Amino acid sequence: MKSILENRPELAKQIHDVAEVAGYLWQKGWAERNGGNITVNISNIIDDGIINMPAISEKIPLGKPMQNLKGGYFFCKGTNRRMRDLARFPMENGSVIRITNDGAHYEIIADHPVKPTSELASHLSIHNYLIGKGSTYKAILHTHPIDLVAMTHNPVFLEKDKLTHLLWSMIPETRAFCPHGVGIIPYQMPSSFELADATIQALNQYDVVMWEKHGVVSVSENIMEAFDMVDTLSKSAQIYLTAKSMGFVPTGTTVEQMNELKEAFNLPG
Ligand code: 13P
Ligand code: ZN
Repeated sequence: MKSILENRPELAKQIHDVAEVAGYLWQKGWAERNGGNITVNISNIIDDGIINMPAISEKIPLGKPMQNLKGGYFFCKGTNRRMRDLARFPMENGSVIRITNDGAHYEIIADHPVKPTSELASHLSIHNYLIGKGSTYKAILHTHPIDLVAMTHNPVFLEKDKLTHLLWSMIPETRAFCPHGVGIIPYQMPSSFELADATIQALNQYDVVMWEKHGVVSVSENIMEAFDMVDTLSKSAQIYLTAKSMGFVPTGTTVEQMNELKEAFNLPG
């Protein structure tokens, strides 16, 4: 059977990057069983051959019409599929979907009828929001980093921007490469539109959002960048936890040092 990736180097590169990141998530211990999901908006690298591809599934309702997604194309990790399997066989553990012209349904077009992630409501709501505001962001990553999720079990870290400032202060790179910080969303049912709506709200201000007692969502231009932000935040969390396990509370960079960095690199926040 011919894959949609054949003779489409740009699309193949995107899927290759998704597979590479999926492998990292497994290696990091962030992807137990089927934990986490990835979607990428590939609408800008679609050709007539793809537009004319017949659907290989029914039309499945999105649950809510999303005007900006009409006729859009997305690669999605499959629900219940393992990141470690996505890493090796991306087109057998994920699929390409097309949003129908009413913006209210999707259909799978390639390579196999793999049902998209159960977090599709959040992923597509975020893509709908990003397109609506003219963003160049195309990749969304949801994953379960042990250290960051553990921190959301402490109510102190759920206070607005508390975790952002703590993580920024552990190593300068975190402020530089995650300059908008981390938004926190109080616990909501996984897969729900409530969770999706709260995530969109938080993405007004932040590039990375923590779902309390569940995981993180990161959005960026491409999947590598989305991964890098979570990786950098997790590094900071590790430094904090390592210092605590050595028996002291880390001092963190000072306000002056932070401000110096902010000015030198023209950072927001
Ligand atoms: P899926 O296997 O449906 O992608 O779900 C994994 C997950 O992390 C749900 O929050
Ligand atoms: Zn999850």
